[in-house]
Amino acid sequence: MKPLQIVILAAGKGTRMYSEKPKVLHALAGKPLVQHVLDCAVALQPQQVCVVYGHGGEAVPQAMRQYPAQFVVQEPQLGTGHAVQQAMPQLADTGQVMVLYGDVPLIQHSTLHRMQQAGDGLVLLTVNLANPTGYGRIVRNGQGDVLGIVEEKDASPEQREICEVHTGILLAPAKQLREWLNKLRNDNAQGEYYLTDVVGMAVQQGVTVHTVQPAHEWEIHGINSKAQLAVLERTWQQVEAARLLALGVTLADPARLDVRGKLKCGQDVEIDVGCIFEGEVSLGNNVQVGAYSVIRNAVIADGTIIAPYSSIDSSEVGANCRIGPYARLRPGSKLHDEVHIGNFVEVKNSEIALGSKANHLSYIGDSTVGSRVNIGAGTITCNYDGANKYRTIIEDDAFIGSDTQLVAPVTVGKGATIGAGSTITKDAPAGELTLSRSKQITIAGWKRPQKGKK
Ligand code: UD1
Ligand code: MG
Repeated sequence: MKPLQIVILAAGKGTRMYSEKPKVLHALAGKPLVQHVLDCAVALQPQQVCVVYGHGGEAVPQAMRQYPAQFVVQEPQLGTGHAVQQAMPQLADTGQVMVLYGDVPLIQHSTLHRMQQAGDGLVLLTVNLANPTGYGRIVRNGQGDVLGIVEEKDASPEQREICEVHTGILLAPAKQLREWLNKLRNDNAQGEYYLTDVVGMAVQQGVTVHTVQPAHEWEIHGINSKAQLAVLERTWQQVEAARLLALGVTLADPARLDVRGKLKCGQDVEIDVGCIFEGEVSLGNNVQVGAYSVIRNAVIADGTIIAPYSSIDSSEVGANCRIGPYARLRPGSKLHDEVHIGNFVEVKNSEIALGSKANHLSYIGDSTVGSRVNIGAGTITCNYDGANKYRTIIEDDAFIGSDTQLVAPVTVGKGATIGAGSTITKDAPAGELTLSRSKQITIAGWKRPQKGKK
């Protein structure tokens, strides 16, 4: 294949978004629009990627700085042809140049790959639309050869009847593209330098114009408003749901699932309604995810059941665990197999070993918990003195009575028992009962206070 250079147009203001943020930084499936396009571009292994930005100052290059791309400013914005012109000084004359749009986020690798294989000359990505309003129309002769693209505002009534439209995406020989761009003029209805005018120039020079169609219409949908963004978000979520169903995942309702990243599922996974998966999430075989759970950047091993309304962030959960309902695993939590984390239990930056349980109303932070430990209801680790954080260590087979405060740094030894209601500030020895509690007394004949007479 010929060397490839990619230009991504992202200078538009997005007036109809009614936002301070540049349009291409609004998120679809949890990721900025332009980042979808960059990911797709990079996957084609081009020699060069050049993003043309404008509105929103440095926000776009700032947000995308992790990409191996050049950022070129277009100021003022005088049309799509003018935008590509700004990128040309960064590009070599060898190979081909592909133009993508920062606000057309769902373009797929396979479609662009087919464009690369379409042959020499100019390659346009076109689509037949039932309602072509607003798009540039593909004008062909009697033999079906492409003659040019005419923009909606410049089209005759007959041309407006044409249903084959230009998606904006094209692939052109670099050297010729440079020549054509130099010849662009803005004597049209919008007073803009139209990139699409290069098609007519190519035809005049006898360059073949190929057309390729995307596999799915949603690939070429552009975003101009929050309404269009919401519709395309739902479309993408349907695509994700269909992919998961095809792999054998049970979805209680494919219309009530949100995947904002990459979700990997083993066999016989069941996902109830309203769940959100963010970043990279991996669910092992037979995992069940209860309704309205939010799971981000997590690995959940085989057979684990996550009950409804649980939140798991940047954590690892072993096999056959029981999590929730209403459990919260914060970043850095690592649960080994058969751990139970129950309702209103928060775990942060802690490791909990095989078969340990914290079933009710607890905070376990910066802790190392051994195997077969039972943590009674209401137990909390006091890991923070207002300035620094300290670790709590609870060794194997310890039993922590309910409503205990473990003031870190502190260690509870192997097999130790802590009496309920204790505030533990010193290490508790292995195998012994430790408690810190004033003795229960009864005051005989005590009377409740009475309201005074006025
Ligand atoms: C363009 C095409 C049209 C096609 C349509 C598909 C031209 C002249 N027309 O029209 O044939 O059917 O896309 O959606 O190319 N942009 C810049 N700088 C500019 C102007 C635009 O970066 O100076 C960017 C915009 O941010 C946007 C993209 O280019 O991402 C398309 O611009 P837009 O003005 O929406 O083009 P259309 O009029 O829709
Ligand atoms: Mg326009």
